[in-house]
Amino acid sequence: MSDRVFFFDTTLRDGEQSPGATMNFQEKLRLAHQLEMLGVDIIEAGFPASSPGDFASVEAIARQAGESIQICGLARCVQNDIDRCWEAVKEAKNPRIHVFVSTSPLHMEYKLRKSPDQVVEMAINGVKRAAGYTSNVEFSCEDFSRSDRDFICRIVGEAIKAGATTINLPDTVGYAQPSEFAELVGYCIKNTPGSEKVVYSVHCHDDLGLAVANTLAAMKVGVRQAEVTLSGIGERAGNASLEEVVMALTVRKDLYGLTHGIESEQLYPSCRLLSMIIGQPIPLNKSIVGANAFAHESGIHQDGMLKNRETYEIMTPQSVGRKETHLIIGKHSGRNAVLQKFESLGYRLNDEQLNEIFAAVKDLADRKKTLHDEDLMALVQQELYRVPDRYRLRHVSIQSSDAGGVPPVAAVLMDVAGIEKSGAGFGAGPVDALFNVISDLVGRAPDLEQYAINAITGGTDALGEVTVRIREKNLTAIGRGNHPDIFVASARAYVDALNNLVKREEEGTRLHCQLETERN
Ligand code: KIV
Ligand code: ZN
Repeated sequence: MSDRVFFFDTTLRDGEQSPGATMNFQEKLRLAHQLEMLGVDIIEAGFPASSPGDFASVEAIARQAGESIQICGLARCVQNDIDRCWEAVKEAKNPRIHVFVSTSPLHMEYKLRKSPDQVVEMAINGVKRAAGYTSNVEFSCEDFSRSDRDFICRIVGEAIKAGATTINLPDTVGYAQPSEFAELVGYCIKNTPGSEKVVYSVHCHDDLGLAVANTLAAMKVGVRQAEVTLSGIGERAGNASLEEVVMALTVRKDLYGLTHGIESEQLYPSCRLLSMIIGQPIPLNKSIVGANAFAHESGIHQDGMLKNRETYEIMTPQSVGRKETHLIIGKHSGRNAVLQKFESLGYRLNDEQLNEIFAAVKDLADRKKTLHDEDLMALVQQELYRVPDRYRLRHVSIQSSDAGGVPPVAAVLMDVAGIEKSGAGFGAGPVDALFNVISDLVGRAPDLEQYAINAITGGTDALGEVTVRIREKNLTAIGRGNHPDIFVASARAYVDALNNLVKREEEGTRLHCQLETERN
């Protein structure tokens, strides 16, 4: 058996099912590109039959994907799902169709309303239809961990005969415990006819906090594909976190003896990009990528670290892409230093990107004494990964007030579809005043569903990162902005959300037109 573990990333499919983690078309493409740099083997890009939006993003990701990565779409074992899935992934250099059906008595009886024999029939037909399109077919037994083990051996054996090349055994509801999960998976591998011809996979949910532990336990009994997401986002409590499984296999290679193709220095930039896209900060104590994961507070620990890092660190921050370099970036830094700094942070910039980012770095350095790595990463994500915007903020001015009868005032200068506009107004607080003025200038008043502020770095001159979520009718959009002045950061975040709302509307119209054309 090979000792290579394949990483199957489902951030764009199961991860996107996580509450509040919806991504738009451009954001999905950008994340897919980053996942490729990270070195994942397979990207599950979406569930094409679920919506025209999902279809379009899977198709675009498949088109842009390189030679070294497989692009997969999810499908139920029904004809239309499989056909749509193939339509969406077929232009990838290495396409994969992932079909699934429920196998637990509970799911078969209540969800599918089918007998076990009928479910076996569905699996065979689904895999055969997918195999008619490609030889790269994955078959999943949904709710595997609550299924009858001998029924699994039967249905998986049939799926292998029908042409499946990867067999995925999910702990769909996060119910399994590591030792019993490993035992169950091991039993199925051993007792299923044809097991030697396929790669076994697991897909674990985190309802009891055991997704990573279950994934790793399964590796010990022969599983060689891990289905994971960045930062563990996903349905309900989430999925097994990619960065945790990768680093467990790396740090404890002595125990697992397994290899993988992930570039661990890209772990932090990838999770940080996801956090920016979905507008959810990485929790401070999150393993591997949280701000505190390498922070040493107690005197005893600090003393130990100074004498020998290994006293309290089992891996270095650099190994997961949190590079402390001695290159200090400030207002006197040249282009080359900025280029090198970004390279050390995991970003490869072309000339045009360097020009843009260099100007933004200088601008920030004029206002802020020390630029931390986090400041620079926030900047690159804000400046470079932006799609052209309809609204552009130029200047804001705020007057706060704690005097009764003298409300806070905001004045704003901005471009609206290329036309310069300005205005001033009041609000209950300065942020309210700002958002009121911006709403008036752009002529729309969405509901503000969420407002969150986070200091990216320490110190009173820290960069404030604001995230807002707005809703207009049935569309929501997230916006982010950062700046040492939290009111400027708030205005930027609000304008960013408004621009994203426009993009969502345009996407909706584009898809509508596409469907109309397809229909006619
Ligand atoms: O959790 C699950 O069982 C799934 C399947 C579709 C693989 O997400
Ligand atoms: Zn799942």
